[in-house]
Amino acid sequence: MSAQNHNQNFKLENVFSVRKRVGLVTGGGSGIGLMATQALAVNGAKVYITGRTGEKLDRVAELYSKGIPGQIIPIAADVTSKQSIQRLVNEISAKESKLHILINNAGISSLTQNTELEDPKQLQQELFKNEDSVEEWEEVMRTNVTQLFFTTTAFLPLLNKRTVEEHGWSSTVVNISSISGLVKSSQHHFAYNSSKAAAVHLTKMLAHELVTSNLKIRVNNIAPGVFPSEMTTEGSDEKQKSNIPKEKFEGKVPAGRPGKDEDMAGAILFTTSNQYLNGQTIVVDGGLFAGDWHCLDSAYTISWEYRVLTTPMLESCSSIFFGFKSPNSKTPNGTFLFLLRARQPSCRNPICVG
Ligand SMILES: NC(=O)c1ccc[n+]([C@@H]2O[C@H](COP(=O)([O-])OP(=O)(O)OC[C@H]3O[C@@H](n4cnc5c(N)ncnc54)[C@H](OP(=O)(O)O)[C@@H]3O)[C@@H](O)[C@H]2O)c1
Repeated sequence: MSAQNHNQNFKLENVFSVRKRVGLVTGGGSGIGLMATQALAVNGAKVYITGRTGEKLDRVAELYSKGIPGQIIPIAADVTSKQSIQRLVNEISAKESKLHILINNAGISSLTQNTELEDPKQLQQELFKNEDSVEEWEEVMRTNVTQLFFTTTAFLPLLNKRTVEEHGWSSTVVNISSISGLVKSSQHHFAYNSSKAAAVHLTKMLAHELVTSNLKIRVNNIAPGVFPSEMTTEGSDEKQKSNIPKEKFEGKVPAGRPGKDEDMAGAILFTTSNQYLNGQTIVVDGGLFAGDWHCLDSAYTISWEYRVLTTPMLESCSSIFFGFKSPNSKTPNGTFLFLLRARQPSCRNPICVG
């Protein structure tokens, strides 16, 4: 191959191509699922979308299918029911001989609790006796975890078919988890965060087991930070889109804003097309988790010079506990462990920076 021809491999349309791929996006009628659907369909994929509300799916297909190289095809289904998943498999199998991309995106949030209480009786009242019931936990786990397992395993033959037929392509499962499954803080919703942590681990287990079974199906997960959706706002508009004002996240996320459609589109195209990615968590959160400085709870080992970097953060904090440990066996020479505990007026969680 000539050097010039070799260069063609590096073109965006080759590196990130999803043209003529067949995909399924659960929860494709709003929020992140709709972003994923558009990212795939606008770039030439045929995308089946599913959710419990048929009208939402029909509206998305009607609005976003026009003038694009791909297609959007709605099929209503409830992914928390094995029978419903089986019907979905039957319906798609009747039309397609293979599935290249499965995006397990459908999910729900859980009730919130006040976790700052320091009196054991009050904390017990809040966490044990309030309306956050066993059934609520079960519903969250069923929707955010159990269905990832059953939807993925139900589609294995259809996913594997393409991999076997096309050298150089491995079909792919992308689970939409969350940074809520990676942080130590409950963020006031234990059930949701537990379910997302389980989704991250389930991804790793599925990737590992499928490799062990010699199936060339890649399983990864995207852990988003905050994106506009029906879950994170009051709902969606006539275009099935939701909005979070930028100001709401200024000073709360290193990027200074919530995620945009394009941020998620890039993550979806990368994760689905990169043939060398398997068993991984892709965090797309505007630096929230990397910085770990807002509404998250952790401590860092940092060098002395870094103190200056914490100043803007300190200015925005209403109360601070500050301490440091001189070099010990765990910290390299000349490095100090700083622990700053802070509470910001807009954030009810303790923040640890530096
Ligand atoms: N937006 C964020 O900031 C954010 C951050 C991190 C992670 N996430 C995750 O991203 C995923 C998408 O959420 P979103 O924020 O985009 O919220 P969303 O707009 O509420 O989307 C969730 C979608 O899932 C569908 N769904 C819920 N239960 C279902 C079921 N049993 N069967 C089939 N479909 C079902 C919903 O449609 P129906 O109600 O019509 O079924 C809805 O379209 C979730 O897994 C969520 O946990 C979101």
